[in-house]
Amino acid sequence: MSASVEFSEKTGNATATAAGAGAFAKPRPEDAFLLVDNVSMRFGGVTAVNELEMAIPRGGIVGLIGPNGAGKTTAFNVISGFYKPQEGRVVFNGRDVTGLPPHRICAAGMARTFQNIRLSHNMSALENVMVGCQVRRKYPWWMAPLGLPMFTREEQRIHDKAMALIERLSLVQYMHEKASSLPYGAQRRLEIARALATEPSFLLLDEPAAGMNPQESVELMHFIGHIRDEFDLTILLIEHDMKVVMGVCRYIWVMEYGTLIAEGEPAAIRSNPEVIKAYLGEDMVQQHA
Ligand SMILES: Nc1ncnc2c1ncn2[C@@H]1O[C@H](COP(=O)(O)OP(=O)(O)OP(=O)(O)O)[C@@H](O)[C@H]1O
Ligand SMILES: [Mg+2]
Repeated sequence: MSASVEFSEKTGNATATAAGAGAFAKPRPEDAFLLVDNVSMRFGGVTAVNELEMAIPRGGIVGLIGPNGAGKTTAFNVISGFYKPQEGRVVFNGRDVTGLPPHRICAAGMARTFQNIRLSHNMSALENVMVGCQVRRKYPWWMAPLGLPMFTREEQRIHDKAMALIERLSLVQYMHEKASSLPYGAQRRLEIARALATEPSFLLLDEPAAGMNPQESVELMHFIGHIRDEFDLTILLIEHDMKVVMGVCRYIWVMEYGTLIAEGEPAAIRSNPEVIKAYLGEDMVQQHA
């Protein structure tokens, strides 16, 4: 028997449609929807991301995996503008966005959620989503005191859009509650709703199923597949649950100690000796070989 990490086929099949139809065609760098070009990010003596290369085409769900401390969240922080890398470029939709502030990258069509949930905790769930909507506001806030009808209509449009997302993410029962008082799973959904409110074309999800039980994780991944279709998204997902990752992603990059150790379709990744070693250790590879 050849070595492979233990992944559930059942879960994989059940969520296979979430990944997006068709085989993954690796784009040429100049054609990538998101290009991470030789990016390095260091903190003092720690190289969190080392010469990372990723070329992501438009459409479907792809994954970034690796053991704890591999550099996944740092890669997200560089891609979304929270960190400026010491080396390399991030090109989004044909535009070099390296080092642009997060709000500019968000306005360009990229939204994200955080590993450690970052909501405005004293605001209600609905208000949190309305904050996301501000990115696409048609008239600036300083017009508010003028009481112009077009401004009032815009306020109503933002409210209605936020309400539609609250409904879509099954958060109606919590909409007037403070974000901090929501159950954990609902807070994670609220972060996704707020990200969708910015009308992204590219969505980065950093461990969206963290802290959920297996049933909730599978449901969430089905849901992510649906929103990918509904909002015509490209999704880059960080997730530790291998069953989930193998089920929903059509292509996967694997990092270890800041470095890319493998990339490929799920079937190739699950039997890749480097990946098995990173997750299970050298001993397990020899036992399984
Ligand atoms: N702001 C920072 N300052 C200093 N070191 C950092 C900082 N952010 C990350 N690191 C270090 O960079 C490395 C990669 O961390 P990162 O959070 O990107 O890993 P990760 O793959 O997301 O891990 P996990 O699966 O645990 O979330 C770690 O050694 C971490 O301690
Ligand atoms: Mg992380």
